[in-house]
Amino acid sequence: MLAVEIIAKKRDGFELSTEELQWLVSEYLAGKVPDYQMSAWLMAVYLRGMTVSETVALTEVFLASGQQMDLRSLPRPTVDKHSTGGVGDKTSLILAPLLAAAGLIVGKLTGRGLGHTGGTIDKLESIPGFTADLSDAAYLQNLRNIGLSMIGAGPTLAPADKRVYALRDVTATVGSFPLIASSIMSKKLAGGAEHIVLDVKYGRGALMPTVAAARELAEAMMSIGQHFGRKMSAILSNMNQPLGYAVGNSLEVKEAIDVLQDRGPQDVRELVLALGAELMVSTGLSVDNASAQKRLEQLLASGAAWEKFLQFVELQGGDPHYLLEPSLLPTSSQQFTLVSAQTGYVAALDALCIGQCAVKLGAGRIQQDSEIDKAAGIVLLKKQGEAVQRGESLAILHGNSQELLLQVAPEAIRAWQFTEQRPEPQPLIAATLRP
Ligand code: URA
Repeated sequence: MLAVEIIAKKRDGFELSTEELQWLVSEYLAGKVPDYQMSAWLMAVYLRGMTVSETVALTEVFLASGQQMDLRSLPRPTVDKHSTGGVGDKTSLILAPLLAAAGLIVGKLTGRGLGHTGGTIDKLESIPGFTADLSDAAYLQNLRNIGLSMIGAGPTLAPADKRVYALRDVTATVGSFPLIASSIMSKKLAGGAEHIVLDVKYGRGALMPTVAAARELAEAMMSIGQHFGRKMSAILSNMNQPLGYAVGNSLEVKEAIDVLQDRGPQDVRELVLALGAELMVSTGLSVDNASAQKRLEQLLASGAAWEKFLQFVELQGGDPHYLLEPSLLPTSSQQFTLVSAQTGYVAALDALCIGQCAVKLGAGRIQQDSEIDKAAGIVLLKKQGEAVQRGESLAILHGNSQELLLQVAPEAIRAWQFTEQRPEPQPLIAATLRP
């Protein structure tokens, strides 16, 4: 085979065979196909797209390049959730113990955050002592013992995707649906869960700008999952404004604790219950969505989900005292309150702007190896639809110096747009997709 012929075939809109895709990626990994040819092929895919069978074949190649977890010997149904990333998205911290408390097995190979969307591991590591660095054997043992474990996704997870993604990042080819779908799904499939729910976000702070784009991506990912025998469903959720009120690692852990203790913001709770219900029904633990939501609400109200979270954190080295007394979790030395110059209603609260400001405060990484400040972030006080008086507080910025806070404040305040009339509330969930 010749790389130039494969590039030309895709450029001219033809379907590539599994063998051609396998050859191209393996020769690329072996250094025999150079970056410039792989880049040309990626651009051809970006412009021409890929069929479902090509997307499945590419996913298979990525998946086979690394290690795969075998969860089949576990005694109960295995489930996982994937979010395409959002600002203030702490759903995994709540959903995972909630489902484990319901009797499902929740194993997550999860990442650190990059850019304006946070990573679950970073959030968990704000709990002193917590480690996501477990051996596979310890991970499986925890899944068997308490039905819940989360570990950092290591270099052996779909390494071919990692190489190709790095090239996409510098060749303006990240935004291709089949490339995104195969990249994400290869890593999700490697986690080994039988039942997977996708939270595909749309809007200002999301990878996908619109509901239509989120639907297209969700459908592509669901087709891949189904091809590999997984039970798939997806929720398209709104990321025009941050989820919940807390953005930043330890701030989000505190908010997750609130929800696990049957309090917390309504939107976080609604999304957790909706995602959880998909998995409860998919695994047959509940007969329909309404009874699934009711069961999950009971598990929050009874404290069973909270107990499971404590057990999970302790088993991974975290000190439970910090959870029992969340004010002991990392707290920033400096705070700055943003105040409204207007009276009216919040028409919009720009998730991207808040996410980027949180990164500037130290809560996220700009580069893969940057250090993060676990305590930094933003606590929102007014969100879309809420009434505001001039002089009222809109948010509190958390950071480690007044200089930094003063630098970020003028940009952060631009996230709020006001209107005189009470705006229509935006639905949190635009659609639920099932096979
Ligand atoms: N996240 C991924 O893992 N891959 C993509 O292509 C885009 C987002």
